[in-house]
Amino acid sequence: MDAQLVDAVVLVGGRGTRLRPLTNNTPKPMLPTANFPFLQHLLARIKAAGIEHVVLSTSFKAEVFEQYFGDGSDMGLDIEYVVEESALGTGGGIRNVYDKLRYDTAMVFNGDVLSGMDLAGILETHEHKNADVTMHLLKVVDPRAFGCVPTDPDGRVLAFLEKTDDPPTNQINAGCYIFKRSVIEQIPAGRVVSVERETFPQLLEEGAQVFGHVDNSYWRDMGKPADFIHGSADIVRGIAPSPLLEGKTGEAFVDPSAGIADGVLLLSGTSVGRGTEIRAGVRLDGTVVFDGVTIEPGAEIKDSIIASGVHIGANTRISGCVIGEGASIGARCELLDGLRIFPGVAIPDSGLRFSPDA
Ligand code: GDD
Ligand code: MG
Repeated sequence: MDAQLVDAVVLVGGRGTRLRPLTNNTPKPMLPTANFPFLQHLLARIKAAGIEHVVLSTSFKAEVFEQYFGDGSDMGLDIEYVVEESALGTGGGIRNVYDKLRYDTAMVFNGDVLSGMDLAGILETHEHKNADVTMHLLKVVDPRAFGCVPTDPDGRVLAFLEKTDDPPTNQINAGCYIFKRSVIEQIPAGRVVSVERETFPQLLEEGAQVFGHVDNSYWRDMGKPADFIHGSADIVRGIAPSPLLEGKTGEAFVDPSAGIADGVLLLSGTSVGRGTEIRAGVRLDGTVVFDGVTIEPGAEIKDSIIASGVHIGANTRISGCVIGEGASIGARCELLDGLRIFPGVAIPDSGLRFSPDA
């Protein structure tokens, strides 16, 4: 199928609650991953697959997307925006872009999935099966946090069970679907609809042609801090593919405007954003550092997210934490194990240990 005759629809209207406080003011798909808004990596993959027309289905903080991507021409894309007054859910978000669709085939993406799946491959399956809907499926170790999707040997979808405690298979919905335009038209307009809990089960009940396309390439949902951190590091190291980093992958990815002192160690897929200053003897391991951050000498940070404008004092140790925008962590602190510091909070020099169970 000619990718130029396919609309891409990206669902980016969620609140990103699991990534609070990073998502208090920034929509999840706009958070910097490997120094680009996450969505930019996905748009670059859409472009590389030959799709040109993209509709962003937005709700929460809708204006942030258009301010950054504009009409998409900088990326060689034609991007349009649709805004929900109040969130319509995943199915409502898909229905809401119906009037913007130009072609008979739409490729719908969850806006928080980092994946190396072959987009041409799923289009081929869709065409070959003459499906109403084709969904990207893959196998994971623990399917409970996802949509569980059993199929028959022919790839026909047998059921869609969103976030069940007792999944019958470890095959899950990877969050990328091909829809016939006529199927999108049938989703009820103007009310909240979950594509996972309402639309897919109903299509199956009606006997619609719903097929799975299994692709076990790199895949990660970026919705939780640990996944966000590891996903960003995987892009930096070239384990997760992004056209934006082609030829630039390695142990670390540093914006040219950042200041890195001598003897700094940047390891395991660390990224360092614009205008950030990293002083002597700092060690950063698998850490995502946003813009305008200052890290004083001797600090050691591992598997963490350091949001914009944060100040980290000398010899402080941080592991597995999220430090919100503009927070200031004093010297000689120790922050461990999933702690989240809220924006603007100041922790004095202390050497004390702060962890969720301390
Ligand atoms: N436009 C719009 N409106 N978009 C929304 C809305 C809404 O009301 N609610 C959520 N979204 C967007 C989110 O921004 C995200 O990009 C996508 O829809 C999926 O929402 P998540 O909140 O990330 O869902 P999830 O991760 O719990 O589960 C979904 O993804 C899994 C794979 O990553 C489901 O589709 C699962 O079935 C799937 O396995
Ligand atoms: Mg998600």
